[in-house]
Amino acid sequence: MHTSPATQPAALFHAAEREQSVHAKTSGSRRRYQRACQSLAGGVSTGMRRGARPYPLYFESGYGSHLVDVDSNSYLDYTLAWGPTILGHAPREIAEQIAAQALRGLTFGAQHDLEIDVAELLTANIPCADSVCFANSGTEVVQVALRLARAATGRNKYLKFEGHYHGWQDTVLVSYHPSPKEREASRGRPVPVGAGQLPPESVVVAEWNDRRQVEAAFATHGGEISAVICEPLLANSGCIPPAPGFLEFLREITRREQALLIFDEVITGFRLDLGGAQSFYHVTPDLATYGKAVGGGLPFSALAGKARYMDLIASGTVVHAGTLNGNPISLAAAKVALRTLSRDRVAVYSDLRRRGAKLRQGLERILASRGYSVATNGEGAVFHLAFMERPARNYRELLAADQRLYSDFALALLDEGVLALPDGRWYLSTAHNDDDIDYTLAAVERAAS
Ligand SMILES: Cc1ncc(COP(=O)(O)O)c(C=O)c1O
Repeated sequence: MHTSPATQPAALFHAAEREQSVHAKTSGSRRRYQRACQSLAGGVSTGMRRGARPYPLYFESGYGSHLVDVDSNSYLDYTLAWGPTILGHAPREIAEQIAAQALRGLTFGAQHDLEIDVAELLTANIPCADSVCFANSGTEVVQVALRLARAATGRNKYLKFEGHYHGWQDTVLVSYHPSPKEREASRGRPVPVGAGQLPPESVVVAEWNDRRQVEAAFATHGGEISAVICEPLLANSGCIPPAPGFLEFLREITRREQALLIFDEVITGFRLDLGGAQSFYHVTPDLATYGKAVGGGLPFSALAGKARYMDLIASGTVVHAGTLNGNPISLAAAKVALRTLSRDRVAVYSDLRRRGAKLRQGLERILASRGYSVATNGEGAVFHLAFMERPARNYRELLAADQRLYSDFALALLDEGVLALPDGRWYLSTAHNDDDIDYTLAAVERAAS
């Protein structure tokens, strides 16, 4: 059933009562947050966590699909630390390997066997990976990828899409969640996010799934564009899939224009499939970036790519550096995560897809039956739910979603013991079982009643 956001039912998840109820059972978190704000800027370690309602919660432990907060409330968790804990919280084998490695050494700043083991697991499973290099965050490997593209082509610009997130360094934090007013004021130019950034002169921005805009960008800036970068499934803004043929089109036009195609697989990597979005959609980029799930919950990221580009790193032509790169603690976790996911690849990913579909369809069915206008987008273990008439095809369409209503829904779920991200994204891990999904759908029934 589809109605416009303006005609959603009147009850709207009883937000005031839900907020009061959450307040009553999370006083330990509230006290800690107030204390943290005195010494930690904004009370959180990354700005995105500040948006939590009614305030950021404090957690004591996690196991499998559950998190437990400092007030002993247990939650079924669909945030998965914003993506990394693909095997669930504190998987035993990862915890044991980390502990064993810690006793042998925290970091060497030198070579060790785990580097080779993990590099081989990555090159065996990622189609574009002739070789890889390591860092600690997605932001860093995006930076290396764009630097490689500039070095390989001798060109300084790159093309990105509206609403795609590629980390928080100056040159990529552009056209990500601009407000409608900012977009209007920009008259189509890239909108930098936040104050203090370098001007985004090197960026050309197009709408996701719009071939004509990409062609126009190359017609205007062709000789200057070193790369096209995208989230192959637009996970950060509505989990919007590529339109049929769109990734193939990007592959073709970048080849023709002698620019690189970069897939930012920080979310899709090891989540859509073992080979990430490039296996799932059968389009092979020149370079691909990995973070989140690849480290199984530890700080670890990787750039994978074709030899003719990665050789620029191997020869020292392009700088790749980092004191803690390839540290054995992160690599011990990555090795277990990659082995676990690849051991039974077919079953792992078909289960993730089946459970993701069951949860997603259940959410839609229950909310629609209560008269809510709701749409979902995404693939298997990562999808997005929005209160809007039909699934968005690009970031601008997503702006029509009723974000406040979603936030009220997430608050009601929190009160029912289900933790969901504030932006509408849902992540599944291999630790979520069918009972968890049934429990969640029963909680959704109560939240929507
Ligand atoms: C697609 C994508 N690229 C890059 C990044 C940046 O990764 P990190 O937060 O590890 O720096 C993120 C983080 O959410 C992401 O989702």
